[in-house]
Amino acid sequence: ATNRTFTMIKPDAVADGNSGAIIKMIEEAGFKVIAMKKTLLTPAQAGKFYEVHAERPFYADLCEYMSSGPIVPMILEKENAVLDFRTLIGATDPAKADEGTIRKIFAKSLSANAIHGSDSDENAAIEGAFFFATTEQY
Ligand code: CMP
Repeated sequence: ATNRTFTMIKPDAVADGNSGAIIKMIEEAGFKVIAMKKTLLTPAQAGKFYEVHAERPFYADLCEYMSSGPIVPMILEKENAVLDFRTLIGATDPAKADEGTIRKIFAKSLSANAIHGSDSDENAAIEGAFFFATTEQY
């Protein structure tokens, strides 16, 4: 079925000027951009977004990194969006990402890994609603 996922281009990729190339790969893979903006999270907002990871050892570094520069969040739509998008971006650790994936091409490290992708339909809806009102989704 056609459904939605949520993504954000992370500070490293935005700062490196790779937003356009990444959006091009996303569109060429058949995803429709439903909502998009450039924004900067405070550390507290990053902490709220990544609340599920609050007990993980990398949580503080993750929140600091994700608020270190502007990001580009997007809601995307496609057949089988969540799984197909995770295939397009590749493994969390760029060293393990397949050739041709967004993380293989653009990620620098496990934390500065260029892009986020929701891991379930439920989280896609929660994460999309974190950044976008219903009236901002087209
Ligand atoms: P993302 O899929 O956006 O969601 C959680 C992020 O935490 C993940 O991408 C990684 O960038 C980061 N992350 C996951 N595991 C680790 C780890 N072991 N050390 C540092 N960062 C991590």
